[in-house]
Amino acid sequence: MSSTSLTASAMRIGAIELPNRLFVAPMAGVTDRPFRQLCKQLGAGYAVSEMVTSRKDLWHSLKTSRRANHEGETAPIAVQIAGTDATMMAEAAAYNIDRGAQVIDINMGCPAKKVCNKWAGSALMQDEPLALQIVEAVVAACLPHKVPVTLKMRTGWSQAHRNAVRIARAAEQAGVAMLTVHGRTREQGYTGQAEYDTIAAVKDAVRVPVVANGDITSPEKALAVLRHTGADAIMVGRAAQGRPWIFGDIAHYLATGAHRAPPQTAQVKRWLLAHLEDHYGLYGEFAGVRTARKHIGWAVRALPGGERFRAHMNTLDSCAAQVQAVTDYFDALSLTHDRLPVTASGPAGGDGMQEVHEAACVAN
Ligand SMILES: Cc1cc2nc3c(=O)[nH]c(=O)nc-3n(C[C@H](O)[C@H](O)[C@H](O)COP(=O)(O)O)c2cc1C
Repeated sequence: MSSTSLTASAMRIGAIELPNRLFVAPMAGVTDRPFRQLCKQLGAGYAVSEMVTSRKDLWHSLKTSRRANHEGETAPIAVQIAGTDATMMAEAAAYNIDRGAQVIDINMGCPAKKVCNKWAGSALMQDEPLALQIVEAVVAACLPHKVPVTLKMRTGWSQAHRNAVRIARAAEQAGVAMLTVHGRTREQGYTGQAEYDTIAAVKDAVRVPVVANGDITSPEKALAVLRHTGADAIMVGRAAQGRPWIFGDIAHYLATGAHRAPPQTAQVKRWLLAHLEDHYGLYGEFAGVRTARKHIGWAVRALPGGERFRAHMNTLDSCAAQVQAVTDYFDALSLTHDRLPVTASGPAGGDGMQEVHEAACVAN
């Protein structure tokens, strides 16, 4: 696949046309509405919301209702649902469609124990009949609303049980409109390297669009993964943390074969401050200041004095103080760096990722 053909034709999920083929991965505790919106503004063509549980008793919890908040979000609104029971999953799909979802994504990729112990997320890949039952029930619930259903999965349960191709074929038969594959098994968690041969095999096996995911950290890697897998789109997760303009960087590289300059420091400050304002608006001051710390930390982690700034920032507990500290940090940086210094910062992957994911997935 040439880089021109990657950007030339439109990408569709069912009847929904997307502006491009660069997707933000759903990340519980990260890809809330403000962050999704920022990524879309900076070049992502599509973003899936954080997982919403299929348990009705949790739908009115603060956490779930925040996750279902799509106010002002650029269409299409895609909501991911997770669960173990076909009827409950169908109800969850209908509930989210009522709240504005235009695409329903089934989570068969989450390795969190909290989810897998209840036989959801990637554990479903171990029980293909149940997985298919869930897909069929969700598709049936979405059909009257003309809402496409998509599926996100891993390559399999374990190295010896890589059944992504079989599940992909069955899901396509059942009416799924797009498949995303993270190139790791459930057993791997976030360790080792993502592999792309299984994603290529899935692409060969189905006609619906396939999205390649896992360890895409740079424009070159994006192009290499697209070429290797023949996938219709790529999905970026951890590498977008603190670097949401990566989507624009990738788009530029795919279109021109060249890297664009890093963003101006003053521009990054403006993006971050606007993100913070949106973030405080969703979470309020107490939760907002605390949950914003990780986004600020990711933004500065590889910058000069970033670690020291992060430690200081973690002691601040008001929106005003946090905004002032971010302003001062970037103003000082822009005196010496008109543009953000180029660093080797990749995703916060490997060690500890499973724990981060577990923490984000619990207590819906
Ligand atoms: C903190 C965190 C939370 C995640 N939450 C979800 C989730 O709710 N649903 C899901 O399908 N995948 C989830 N994932 C997996 C990502 O969508 C993605 O598949 C994975 O991070 C690999 O992509 P990457 O290497 O680009 O990060 C999560 C990942 C992280 C790091």
